[in-house]
Amino acid sequence: MTKLRAVKGMNDLLPEELGRWRRLESIFRETAERYGFGEIRTPLLEPTELFVRSIGEATDIVEKEMYTFHDKGEKNLTLRPEGTASCARAYLEHTVGAREAITRWYYLGPMFRRERPTRGRYRQFHQAGVEVYGDPGPFIDAEIIDMLVRFLSELGIVDLRVLLNSLGDQETRQNYREALIRYLEPHRGSLSADSQRRLETNPLRILDSKAPEDQAIIEDAPSILEHLSEEDQAHFDGVRRTLDRLGTPYEIEPRLVRGLDYYSRTLFEVQGRGGELGAQNALAGGGRYDGMIEELGGKATPAFGFALGIERLLLAMGEAEDESRPRVMILAANDEARVEAVALARELRDAGFNIETDLRGTSLKSQLRRADRSGAALALILGDDELARGVVQWKRLEGEGSGESPREGIASVVAELLGQKVG
Ligand code: HAM
Repeated sequence: MTKLRAVKGMNDLLPEELGRWRRLESIFRETAERYGFGEIRTPLLEPTELFVRSIGEATDIVEKEMYTFHDKGEKNLTLRPEGTASCARAYLEHTVGAREAITRWYYLGPMFRRERPTRGRYRQFHQAGVEVYGDPGPFIDAEIIDMLVRFLSELGIVDLRVLLNSLGDQETRQNYREALIRYLEPHRGSLSADSQRRLETNPLRILDSKAPEDQAIIEDAPSILEHLSEEDQAHFDGVRRTLDRLGTPYEIEPRLVRGLDYYSRTLFEVQGRGGELGAQNALAGGGRYDGMIEELGGKATPAFGFALGIERLLLAMGEAEDESRPRVMILAANDEARVEAVALARELRDAGFNIETDLRGTSLKSQLRRADRSGAALALILGDDELARGVVQWKRLEGEGSGESPREGIASVVAELLGQKVG
């Protein structure tokens, strides 16, 4: 029989990894809520048309990365490749704009893209993101970029670059697109095959090309920043002025375009440099997408947001202590002691400790060996003698030391041994 395995690029997350995940997620939630965001959860499946219309037909995501299928009712459905389109759909569907002038939503969850899997790039990956509706900026843009940078620094990710660009409004982009085509056309033959194709479909994405033969040509391409209208320029200056006031470091990158077609004006990406990131160094990205709500059939509504890749952040953070593992193991020598061990464990859990028991009936020696390897800090041991005398043996698993304490009041002894307050 062939071995059943998880789908390529889709990973199981086991308890020993999830401690770090949950810590990151809870800091993200706290940060978002401190900035006035409320959580939204949308379905993993959406009508395919939603993504085609919002993300754009000529993007890698829509062209080749979506998991799309017909359900039994012949509807064309797609596993969400990102969260922004779903939030915009929900915002429209629940006529949120009629009730609130400004809406701040955050989300966490799995996204699906059929990319080539490698370290830091998966087919099911996880994003945390925020979206703001109803504020045309520019100050909110800076507030949200700064929020992201502060969140990253709280996780200890400080070795990073914030790349900032403006794509201007629709007219600016149209003018720039024409200027770019005029510049690229004479170089057509020297461009990579992908870029030659994009010259017809999505010329701005050529600026994003990693192909070596494209680099010198891109280097000399006209800059979108030279095509900004007066209003675009004032908007960009407002974002910069606010970031400057906050002391948030950023670099202007006129070649930053990113892989989604919905952006207008402010566009940014945070790249990491440390940890085990490798080539997949884009930790987070986002920007303004003032046209999306209207594109989906609503009233013109300004919007701004970002999403970060949780797997990539964890890589950038490197290995960190998993604090969710049980700190205390309770071991027992025989069945009578095992009954007592269950009761003692419940008492200590009620006092706020993470407790694991070993009740299988193996020898104390093998239980101790397992406890040693478990990552727990402390073992409590019960046997006939301890039960008779109303005491508990303890042994430190991190560092040296062992002893015996009365069963009564053991919670404070455990707290002292773990160096924490009784819960
Ligand atoms: P994105 O740049 O496509 O933007 O994705 C955001 C982040 O998700 C990336 O910076 C990266 O960390 C992570 N990511 C993307 N693809 C993968 C993958 N295959 N494997 C692992 N991590 C990945 C968006 O998704 C926009 N919705 C962001 C946004 C929100 N713009 C406005 N609002």
